[in-house]
Amino acid sequence: MSRSAALVPACRPENLGDTGFCRAHGLKYAYVGGSMANGISSTQLAAALDQAGMLGFYGAAGQTVEKIEQAINRLRTTRNYGFNLIHSPSDPALETALVELYLKRGVRLLEASAFINLTLPLIRFCTYGIRRNAAGEIETPNRIIGKISRTEVATRFFSPPEDKFLKELVARGELTPEQAALAACIPVAGDVTAEADSGGHTDNRPLVNLLPTIIALRDRMQERHAYACGLRVGAGGGIATPEAAAAAFMMGAAYIVTGSVNQACLEAGTSDLVKKLLAGAEQADVAMAAAADMFEMGVKVQILKRGTMFAMRANKLYDYYRAYAGFEEIPAEIRTTLERDYFRATFAEIWQGTREFFQLRDPAQAERADRDPRHKMALVFRWYLSQSSRWPLAGDESRKLDFQIWCGPSMGAFNEWTKGSFLEQPQNRHAATVAQNLLSGAAVLTRLHALRCQGIAIDPRLARQEPRTREQLSPFFA
Ligand SMILES: Cc1cc2nc3c(=O)[nH]c(=O)nc-3n(C[C@H](O)[C@H](O)[C@H](O)COP(=O)(O)O)c2cc1C
Repeated sequence: MSRSAALVPACRPENLGDTGFCRAHGLKYAYVGGSMANGISSTQLAAALDQAGMLGFYGAAGQTVEKIEQAINRLRTTRNYGFNLIHSPSDPALETALVELYLKRGVRLLEASAFINLTLPLIRFCTYGIRRNAAGEIETPNRIIGKISRTEVATRFFSPPEDKFLKELVARGELTPEQAALAACIPVAGDVTAEADSGGHTDNRPLVNLLPTIIALRDRMQERHAYACGLRVGAGGGIATPEAAAAAFMMGAAYIVTGSVNQACLEAGTSDLVKKLLAGAEQADVAMAAAADMFEMGVKVQILKRGTMFAMRANKLYDYYRAYAGFEEIPAEIRTTLERDYFRATFAEIWQGTREFFQLRDPAQAERADRDPRHKMALVFRWYLSQSSRWPLAGDESRKLDFQIWCGPSMGAFNEWTKGSFLEQPQNRHAATVAQNLLSGAAVLTRLHALRCQGIAIDPRLARQEPRTREQLSPFFA
């Protein structure tokens, strides 16, 4: 039976999520813009989110150390920001160099992603400068937010650093024995983002399944270790509407992480052409395609399918890699297609450039390819796969069919929600306005839900959260 009277407490955008998360990171809102490689999550994006009381990570993956240092310089006057540390098993020296740079330049917060086992540089970062403060609490100047889609990896982030790493850091003189003892009492990461089906690398897990599992793990880990600081779980993957944001918070997310939708925003470090393509995406316009990194292992990334042939081409390259022991073994007709349409150069020409690259960066790869034709083929195919994520950044029209644009189904959900509103147009998509709409819409939906729970029939039109302009939102975000 429907009722006509009920009580609903206020719910403001700053009430969503875990206030402990906001306090720990100096934020007003439990909202995070996740890292997007190649500087797609740009310094402008991080600065815009910071100005709005939120947090943004600079997309350091795929960038040179020099470029990352320039980004650090640009963010000097930004209050809150973080950088990405993406695990690079094929290039451990890069991970070490990045951590050294972050320590030297005082970067205090990392989004650590793609880890399976944790590494010494990561532990060096999170234990660096560990001490006991005047109140007797353990303090670390640096923090990590771990991003995971598997419980085993979440377990590693929620555990104290492994003894072998602490011993190694002491042996190197990078920690004192007293500091190592303190480090054994804290988690590697107090915050872990459960990343569901998302743009880019993804296990395609549904958020409604993944999040409760990781929250339950958090509780077991807190019980086991009795940390003084507590542990928190955030939610990412699939969040680009007020409904999705409200659902994540209602399920207990301490904070939410967005990605795909930010790539479609003005501040994103990519071309207008990409933003236009993203604006036309529907939910089914995404596909899984062979990844440039970990190509040989069959790893895939989620990308925009509409308007490009990339998914089909990338997956064909993987099929050829599996089927043939070297490029020469591929039937002549296919080889011609690959050289003409994919590489736009001969295999030998691409190999020459690729070989020179690896001789500088990782000579063992070049040597192995000289002996092993399948490895040589893999490196050339990986050249195509890595270039295809650069062409969209430059908006190279001549390569539009080969654009590799990382994107999840949340993009289509966002486009559907904003259809007919000012946010339909790419030139109006400011990252902070999008974020504020997600949060304010989620706050309203949370209140409506409370009414529904008390037997009040809700007019569906009330539940529709029309996108609002910055000016219309200003009373909620004063
Ligand atoms: C274009 C793009 C590039 C991304 N690059 C990275 C990256 O380099 N490192 C990382 O940790 N996550 C990366 N992600 C994942 C995002 O940080 C975020 O976790 C994810 O996009 C959230 O899911 P959503 O795409 O459904 O919003 C990327 C996502 C996109 C869309």
